[in-house]
Amino acid sequence: MTREELKSAAVAMLDRAYVPYSHFPVGAALECQDGTVFTGCNIENAAYGPTLCAERTAVVKAVSEGHRDFRRIVIAGRSEDFCVPCGVCRQVLTEFAPHMEIICLNARGEELCLPLDQLLPHGFGPQYLLDR
Ligand code: THU
Repeated sequence: MTREELKSAAVAMLDRAYVPYSHFPVGAALECQDGTVFTGCNIENAAYGPTLCAERTAVVKAVSEGHRDFRRIVIAGRSEDFCVPCGVCRQVLTEFAPHMEIICLNARGEELCLPLDQLLPHGFGPQYLLDR
């Protein structure tokens, strides 16, 4: 998938977002190293806490289908600001691909592109537990 196609896949997911409380839809398209793409949207909950961000929806789909090597993710929002991943999503992505590319889109389709290790410097990763 080209970068533009990946961006379109993330934007398309905005319509699948279940956001009755925040009215803040987010769409995501996660590309694996082998080119496989998993999409996601945010899924809110009346109890608020169980709300899933779009990025984590995509990660859960990928990992549960046997994919752990991520290359990049596009995160699309409908606001003026770039839709940057929350702290929890940064941590979840770091588990699998600390150097992956994060492409954040705003409503105009403009992008802010950063490596994950710049968004989450010195992230706590598996090496802290597995290298002992
Ligand atoms: N949200 C995401 O899906 N991804 C982000 O990167 C930021 C926040 C969702 C969670 C919630 O449904 C709504 O946006 C408002 O916080």
